[in-house]
Amino acid sequence: MKYISYDEATKVFQLHTKNSVYQMQVADYNTLVHLYYGADIGDTQASHRIIRLDRGFCVNPYEAGDDRTFSLDVLPQEYSGYGNGDYRINAMEAEHEDGSDALHLRYESHKMMEGKYSLDGLPCMFGGADEAETLEIVLYDRITNLKVHLLYGVFYELDVITRAVRIHNEGERAVKIQRAMSMEMDYPNKHMDLIHFYGRHAMERLTERLPLYHGIQSVESKRGTSSHQHNPFVILCDKSASEKLGDCYGFALAYSGNFRCEIEVDQMEQTRIVMGIHPYHFSFKLNKGDVFETPEAIMAYSSEGLSRLSHIYHDAYRSNLIRSKYVTMPRPVLVNNWEATYFGFDEEKLYRIAQDAKEIGLDMFVLDDGWFGKRDNDNAGLGDWVVNEDKIKGGLPKLVKRIKDLGLKFGIWIEPEMVSEDSDLYREHPDWVLRIPDRSMTRGRFQLNLDITRKEVRDHVMQQIFRVLDSCQVDYVKWDMNRSVANVYSSALPSDRQGEVFHRYVLGVYEMMEQLVTRYPDLLFENCSGGGGRFDAGMLYYSPQIWCSDNTDAIDRLKIQYGTSFGYPISAMGSHVSVCPNHQNGRVTPFETRGVVASAGTFGYELDLGRLTPEEKEMAKKQILDYKQIEHLVQTGDYYRLSDPFKNNDYVVWQFVSKDKKETVVNGVQLRNEPNPHIHLIYLEGLLPKEHYKDAQTGAVYTGAALMKAGIPLPVGLGDYQPLKFRFVMV
Ligand code: DGJ
Repeated sequence: MKYISYDEATKVFQLHTKNSVYQMQVADYNTLVHLYYGADIGDTQASHRIIRLDRGFCVNPYEAGDDRTFSLDVLPQEYSGYGNGDYRINAMEAEHEDGSDALHLRYESHKMMEGKYSLDGLPCMFGGADEAETLEIVLYDRITNLKVHLLYGVFYELDVITRAVRIHNEGERAVKIQRAMSMEMDYPNKHMDLIHFYGRHAMERLTERLPLYHGIQSVESKRGTSSHQHNPFVILCDKSASEKLGDCYGFALAYSGNFRCEIEVDQMEQTRIVMGIHPYHFSFKLNKGDVFETPEAIMAYSSEGLSRLSHIYHDAYRSNLIRSKYVTMPRPVLVNNWEATYFGFDEEKLYRIAQDAKEIGLDMFVLDDGWFGKRDNDNAGLGDWVVNEDKIKGGLPKLVKRIKDLGLKFGIWIEPEMVSEDSDLYREHPDWVLRIPDRSMTRGRFQLNLDITRKEVRDHVMQQIFRVLDSCQVDYVKWDMNRSVANVYSSALPSDRQGEVFHRYVLGVYEMMEQLVTRYPDLLFENCSGGGGRFDAGMLYYSPQIWCSDNTDAIDRLKIQYGTSFGYPISAMGSHVSVCPNHQNGRVTPFETRGVVASAGTFGYELDLGRLTPEEKEMAKKQILDYKQIEHLVQTGDYYRLSDPFKNNDYVVWQFVSKDKKETVVNGVQLRNEPNPHIHLIYLEGLLPKEHYKDAQTGAVYTGAALMKAGIPLPVGLGDYQPLKFRFVMV
């Protein structure tokens, strides 16, 4: 092994990435303690950080005898069990047949492997022997013989360490897991800030930075999806950390369902973070021999601030998480008919939009909601994946052929996890939904969650959808999900397994998506959950892009896309130019500004192109060409947040730099015009200081150092919401 080592004498494990090291040690009584995660510290093993003292009200395990300094309550642990004298948040809890729920996890063995471990039916990073190594440490509970395999994936070049846990019941009796976090990590101090991403439908992933405080802070979802409200990605960083400076730790969960990230600052000013499936309404029964795997946590460390941390995630996801062949390929620039027509369309109206799309130089037409069943509004039709011939006369293949004859690709919207009560599927199978016996159900957007924990339900829906996709050679699919999961009960599971429903639902989603991408390897797949309700690393394993938000207003998008960029590649954010006044908030912004903002993502349009003025049509043609010029930077470049829209009310700017540093684009929006204006200088990032760069608009030449240290002034006298655009090329 090159990057994982174990010192037999000191019993210290070390996981090395290019710029970080992670250390743990098998300590007394075979307790696995965490030593250190951070910048490389050479050949020092950081066990000197652990000082044991006799502390009041911190209990000691019996086997410590008269040693009152050994207490799990204060030791930094790698994966702590509940009920064992550690009163902090724990990684794991299990209920045994006798009703007790204690776990005492001790080191048993370990092994190291070339290449990255994989998980069964769960998304996770992948890596061959030349990219990754795996460490597997087995902990065991002596009384139940439950084996807890801690899995570590070490990506040296990417600076990423992944974690997951495989729990194997090797005992004779059934065990019910009540809590199984994907990772736990302890820090010896509390002097950090938490950055997390909160929001709501149509206003997702807003950025909040808070100091850690004594007690427990949590970020979580109980909605069955990763949610609009919180995101399974958080950052812990130095209080002084900025975009360019300071220690920052990222924690992402590759999971699209209920999650919880808890951070506790304890009585000794130590910080513990755990992340994994939300323990709320969760239990998983393991009979003798059964195995349970947690989702994967993806951790990264940067000693160079938040920008570098984001680059680590962007690069890692693009190279070793997103499987789609489109990940670095030019994506078709699309028009989606949702905001153009909503449910009110027929085949001619759609065809006209497609014709206009062709005229302005677009590549693909996407038919959104409303093409199937009796779907004339959002009260009906979900579950009936057959074309509505009242709206699309002659059927889908005919329309698709006409659109393809224009030279466009064709994409389609589906929402496979749902059913409307007013649908043939529901009339035939009313028992195929999640429903708690004898209780009235909750509706969301007037629709119900199908019980996709059941294979026959999943297969029925996917077969219907495959028939449609096969009939007309679809190039792109948008998979939507428009309600929070509720009525959580599956009639197919016994009462002692109802705690599994939320998780089995997510496994069901993953299995359906796996079927889709396996059957159609060339399909461009976009995820969506009412915009960004499921914007997480799990979804990126299946689709290279996710519709970022139902809010298409360029000014609100500045905050949404800013927050999203901390943990997710720009090339993963679906972003469209829509009409003004904007349908979500009524705001009016210039057409060009909408184009600049949508260009920081997977670009497209979402409006009735036939209603564009001749000038707007010309602008759109230029926007599309401009986007194609910078698309490679969006796909593979380094992204820098040059200003913070939560602090700066004057302008928002961001920058892409090609990996070879020969080319850079700075885009943004001037928010507010001022009389007698200040001169705003912006300072570029990521260039070679000694090289010269030419301004593509003015021809002026600057050194990289000048652009980064002396800065460039923003244009003076622009009106509100005006676009900002610069491009520099190395000469
Ligand atoms: C929510 C999505 O985010 C929208 O883009 C659109 O597809 C609608 N659903 C359709 O119902």
